[in-house]
Amino acid sequence: MGKIAFYGTKPYDRVWFEPLAEEYGYKIRFIEGLLDEDTISLAADCTAACVFVNDQIGKKEIDGLAALGVRVLLLRSAGYNHVDLKAARDKLTILRVPGYSPESVAEFATGILLSLNRKIHRAYVRTREFNMNIQGLMGRDLYGKTAGVVGTGRIGQAMITILKGFGMEILAYDLYPQPLEGVTYVEPDELFARSDVISLHCPLTPQTEHLIDKKALEKMKDGAYLINTSRGALVDSAALMKELKKGRLGGVGLDVYEEEDGVFYEDNSERPVADDILARLMSFPNVLITSHQGFFTEEAMRAIATTTLENLRMFEAGEPLVNQIR
Ligand code: NAI
Repeated sequence: MGKIAFYGTKPYDRVWFEPLAEEYGYKIRFIEGLLDEDTISLAADCTAACVFVNDQIGKKEIDGLAALGVRVLLLRSAGYNHVDLKAARDKLTILRVPGYSPESVAEFATGILLSLNRKIHRAYVRTREFNMNIQGLMGRDLYGKTAGVVGTGRIGQAMITILKGFGMEILAYDLYPQPLEGVTYVEPDELFARSDVISLHCPLTPQTEHLIDKKALEKMKDGAYLINTSRGALVDSAALMKELKKGRLGGVGLDVYEEEDGVFYEDNSERPVADDILARLMSFPNVLITSHQGFFTEEAMRAIATTTLENLRMFEAGEPLVNQIR
């Protein structure tokens, strides 16, 4: 029976993976810590190691796992920017879960947008204290406004469908434009300058790192909303903080943050905040930060668990690996 070393385990992972693993006949060793130098040895006698987005898989981790006899790295994510693919070549087979529920992330991005625009997060706090004054909570209709979607893959397209439903005009930028009805592809600068709402849905690559830098931010319209549910490092957070201080942007929604590793997914409420930029970002009333939970729906968790275990089954059966990353 194949054994899986499951890193970064949270209680909800057990709920979805444990019963399914039993059906597949796999034994899972649930490990709370992330995969790093100190925890590699916990994968001894396992066929596969299973990780999520905040395990940083560099050469040391890959060599360490391979030396223990681990043959497969199962990513419980679509993104794979946290894995050193070059170091893994000929040592580990990397399998991921692409497109488990694009709607989960797109719907969440929309939720952040609506909350920011209509100040729902602030209204919630006010009414809890029986402050029913609506001064300062005014938003704008999305109907008839322009949305700019960066990355028109699975999640970007799901987002476009939703935004079209609001009656928005859709601009898009992608390295590989597709013939999408009602979508006008433009260059990034034009998208930044014309959009009332900018939503990021491209992967993090050397090319997209700090795609939203000082220059891009300065091009954005007064009152524009920026939503990032993709990867934190798409946005230069220091530049974002400075731009927010000018009071020009309408709002910023971040489900991801460039220094999120080791902070997101943890209860840090009793520790001093070490990250000054994150603390400053939190202090703006028009910034809404969530902890990388865009994917977190029942449908997505079911699909992640199923595809992850199916990936391992196909590997062991010698079947073509449709979800392999090279
Ligand atoms: P996808 O692979 O279906 O689409 C990505 C799109 O980005 C493609 O159309 C691709 O051509 C485009 N792209 C690649 N490089 C680009 C560049 N330099 N400039 C502009 N466009 C570029 O991926 P999917 O499933 O839509 O996911 C997108 C991203 O969302 C993932 O890479 C991941 O980082 C993030 N994500 C976040 C989650 C969350 O919980 N917040 C959950 C799942 C994914």
